[in-house]
Amino acid sequence: MVDQWSRVFLICSALFFLLFGCTVQQQFLVSRQERLALLQLRSALGLRAKEWPIKSDPCTTWAGLQCTNGRVTGINISGFRRTRRGNENPQFSIDAIQNLTLLTSFNASNFELPGSIPEWLGLRVFALQMLDLSSCSINGAIPFTLGNLTSLVQLHLSDNNLTGIVPSSLGQLFGLSVLDLSQNSLTGSIPETFISLGNLTLLDMSLNFLSGEIPPSIGTLSRLQFLNLSRNSLSSSIPAQLGNLSSLVDLDLGFNSLSGSVPPELRGLINLQRLVIGNNFLTNSLPSDLFPSLTRLQFVVLSHNGFNGDFPNMLWSIPELRFLDASVNNFTGMLPNVGLSVNNASNTAVLNISQNLFYGNLTPVIQRFGFVDMSENYFEGPVPVYARGNAFLGRNCLRNSTNQRNVTECASFYTDRNLVFDNFGEPNRTQPPPRNTNKRNRKLVIILASVFGGIGLIAVMVIIIGMLIICKRKRGTTNQRSTGVGPVPEGETPPPHGVSLNFSSLGDGFSYNQIVQATSEFSDANLIKKGHSGDLFRGILEGGIHVVIKKIDLNSSVKKEAYMLELDLFSKLSHPRLVPLLGHCLENENEKFLVYKYMPNADLYSSLFKKINSGDDGLKSLDWITRLKIAIGAAEGLSYLHHDCTPPLVHRDVQASSILLDDKYEVRLGSLSEVCAQEGDIYQSRITRLLRMPQTSDQGVSGKSNATCAYDVYCFGKVLLELVTGKLGISSSNDATTKDWLESTLPYISIYDKELVTNILDPSLIIDEDLLEEVWAMAIVARSCLNPKPTRRPLMRYILKALENPLKVVREEHTSSARLRTTSSRGSWNAALFGSWRQSSSDVAAVPVAPPHKVEGSGSFKQSGTSGSQNGDGNGHSSSTRPHSKEIFPEQNED
Ligand SMILES: *[C@@H]1O[C@H](CO)[C@@H](O)[C@H](O)[C@H]1NC(C)=O
Ligand SMILES: *[C@@H]1O[C@H](CO)[C@@H](O)[C@H](O)[C@H]1NC(C)=O
Ligand SMILES: *[C@@H]1O[C@H](CO)[C@@H](O)[C@H](O)[C@H]1NC(C)=O
Ligand SMILES: *[C@@H]1O[C@H](CO)[C@@H](O)[C@H](O)[C@H]1NC(C)=O
Ligand SMILES: *[C@@H]1O[C@H](CO)[C@@H](O)[C@H](O)[C@H]1NC(C)=O
Ligand SMILES: *[C@@H]1O[C@H](CO)[C@@H](O)[C@H](O)[C@H]1NC(C)=O
Ligand SMILES: *[C@@H]1O[C@H](CO)[C@@H](O)[C@H](O)[C@H]1NC(C)=O
Ligand SMILES: *[C@@H]1O[C@H](CO)[C@@H](O)[C@H](O)[C@H]1NC(C)=O
Ligand SMILES: *[C@@H]1O[C@H](CO)[C@@H](O)[C@H](O)[C@H]1NC(C)=O
Repeated sequence: MVDQWSRVFLICSALFFLLFGCTVQQQFLVSRQERLALLQLRSALGLRAKEWPIKSDPCTTWAGLQCTNGRVTGINISGFRRTRRGNENPQFSIDAIQNLTLLTSFNASNFELPGSIPEWLGLRVFALQMLDLSSCSINGAIPFTLGNLTSLVQLHLSDNNLTGIVPSSLGQLFGLSVLDLSQNSLTGSIPETFISLGNLTLLDMSLNFLSGEIPPSIGTLSRLQFLNLSRNSLSSSIPAQLGNLSSLVDLDLGFNSLSGSVPPELRGLINLQRLVIGNNFLTNSLPSDLFPSLTRLQFVVLSHNGFNGDFPNMLWSIPELRFLDASVNNFTGMLPNVGLSVNNASNTAVLNISQNLFYGNLTPVIQRFGFVDMSENYFEGPVPVYARGNAFLGRNCLRNSTNQRNVTECASFYTDRNLVFDNFGEPNRTQPPPRNTNKRNRKLVIILASVFGGIGLIAVMVIIIGMLIICKRKRGTTNQRSTGVGPVPEGETPPPHGVSLNFSSLGDGFSYNQIVQATSEFSDANLIKKGHSGDLFRGILEGGIHVVIKKIDLNSSVKKEAYMLELDLFSKLSHPRLVPLLGHCLENENEKFLVYKYMPNADLYSSLFKKINSGDDGLKSLDWITRLKIAIGAAEGLSYLHHDCTPPLVHRDVQASSILLDDKYEVRLGSLSEVCAQEGDIYQSRITRLLRMPQTSDQGVSGKSNATCAYDVYCFGKVLLELVTGKLGISSSNDATTKDWLESTLPYISIYDKELVTNILDPSLIIDEDLLEEVWAMAIVARSCLNPKPTRRPLMRYILKALENPLKVVREEHTSSARLRTTSSRGSWNAALFGSWRQSSSDVAAVPVAPPHKVEGSGSFKQSGTSGSQNGDGNGHSSSTRPHSKEIFPEQNED
């Protein structure tokens, strides 16, 4: 009867499709045995006619049924409801699927299947690739036989009442990509056999009663992206091997009984976005090199542990961070006094550092977050305007605020730590309160003097001057400052902190022995180069971490000063574009060591052309995309020093070999020992100049004149030319040959003629018409950087913009409206690039150009300056006679 009906139906449907010329291949169920099995399943589970109408063809009409060539390959009864009769005595009765021999996926999630998983399931449905039985009210144990379903790619058993242990046989499911056993009552430990699940991308065993340690072998599951073991009873420490999971995006180990400290190896989790290790018994301070590596973090939970020590200040500058809960620990320290320009996401970003031991003033760093809980710490001082609306500030030591700790509590906290409490701004009864910062400075001087005992007063003064350096950790797009959420007005900014050499931001402390071992006793084989600030050695730390170690001999006064400055710099600055300092060893009096992260691609100088081992004359040059990326990266780093630091910092050693490259060719600026505050800046006192005097004689770089941002820009221009032309060594030298080369090269760069640039193009670059425009743009930028007049060189931030939008440089500048745009903020970077040499570029359009003036002079940019090809400006005062120059060229200090 049933068969007859279906035959009629079949014929009718066939006619239907013929009539309407339908080309879709509709396959009806062909297997009689499978039809019976489906009907049996339907009645055993009590499925409704609504979803599975009994009289029509299952393959074409039953909901959730998937057929291939007339055979059932997939069943999805997820969320189906049973008939009233079916609901009376629901059972885990899916025996019928044994007769669906090609079944590859079975999804019954959210469908009641009270009962336990039958043993036969693992022995009879071998084709199964996906089994989803989550939220099915299953109980009992996971049968050992499930390990025989070796085709499985996904196994979901979450949200049931499964008990017993996790069978080790699951380790045989070699093809498994997703294993979700979360939200059950599983006990025992995580099977060691999981080491075989090499294809696993998701492992979720959260919310069970698992105990024992986290097997270190999980660290071998290199494809793992999601690992959630939270809410179990796992104990022991976090295995260092987890740091090998470089694909991991999500790591949740919260609510366990983990103890010990966080292994520094976790810095290998470079793709991590969520890190949850809250509610454990973890202790000690966090490894200092952890967060500089985890730059993708968005969500971080460290709360309810026993962390102590200085708070990892690197966390503040992680760009995408939008949730940070470090509450209920013993973190201590002051907030960095930096303003982070507020990015779009930040009005919803959350910061919770309540119930810790933070002290000092509230600083603009918290502006990054929309909700802030800083209660139950020891913050002192006034509450700045920006902290009034969105912050919980109870139980601190803040002035003019309700619900604060009392004087005794606050004073004793500060006294215990040898700090001075501001006493709520009231004069102290017993003694007049000394100015807070003065006092700190004085204490610092004492500390520093003892730390650097032999170094003497001059060095200490250098440090104090260096301390005035404050950098913004700027986030988001640069034009956001105009939206009104900019930095706080001067008057409201709390007094500057950061008046201490923050050793936590100087990385780990290493012993002299460790350094000696790492470099094989400073063997010549490990010597990279003898730099002017110290000798650089390759090294390998215990644990196989590759580093670069700088050995500084303090008997040389030049090196001593460079060292002090660099140390101070690293304690103040952190930026993803600066080479990461991993640690230091300061225990010897006359010999200090700085330990940097090893850069696999060395520097631009050695990477631009790489020898390839195979092939005889094999030189492989960096492709254009990478070159542009490097240019942008270096510009970002310099722009940070020039524009986000107060006073502006000048790198002074911009050249290809200072542009370090990590494994992904991301730029990390190195050679930071020359960095200094810009000359003539208000912060820079006469003392600094005094201090610099002895140095000027020593180095090739000419002491004072290069301490301007414009000097960096000039040098950067040479780096850009190096990228365009492939002419190595230009950026590192100032000699006559280089000068000649520049003179003969620059005329080929014209904003009016794209093709000219092909004459100077690196022959090893493979460039199509589109890329040529970018090359041309970079050349134009390079040329404007090489303007002989320092004041006419573009600011670094405009250079960055131009490199980020190379096509704008060449396409828009031609248009007649260009001049109009120069007054609007949108076009200002563009104008800044062109203003300086547009008027002279008509001279340039014709090649060759008039011969340059002969110059002597010793100042490096004066040299190249007067020797530039822009004859008219060579003498330095003709610009005012140019009628248009003013309107084209925006004020340099314009924002
Ligand atoms: C499974 O069936 C449910 C209910 O019919 C449906 O909402 C869902 O989209 C189906 N899922 C898949 C993966 O086909
Ligand atoms: C499978 O099919 C065979 C033959 O049609 C039948 O004897 C058997 O009972 C079926 N088994 C199940 C579990 O439905
Ligand atoms: C099972 O079906 C539900 C409902 O459509 C769906 O959300 C779930 O992703 C499916 N399971 C798998 C493993 O595809
Ligand atoms: C199931 O796997 C076990 C090994 O775990 C094996 O000994 C057994 O023979 C398998 N059973 C079947 C039916 O394949
Ligand atoms: C692991 O995944 C890859 C790609 O997804 C696949 O080619 C390979 O067959 C899988 N390995 C196993 C054992 O299934
Ligand atoms: C881990 O699992 C728990 C409980 O199942 C859940 O609350 C938590 O959000 C998961 N963690 C992540 C990072 O997804
Ligand atoms: C902080 O340190 C104190 C004193 O050592 C200790 O009693 C307290 O439990 C610690 N708090 C946390 C959250 O670890
Ligand atoms: C901050 O953390 C504490 C302790 O974990 C918690 O009680 C408080 O509710 C959190 N604050 C906010 C605003 O979520
Ligand atoms: C604190 O409040 C008093 C009166 O409420 C006011 O006179 C004083 O200026 C306030 N101090 C600060 C630092 O805001």
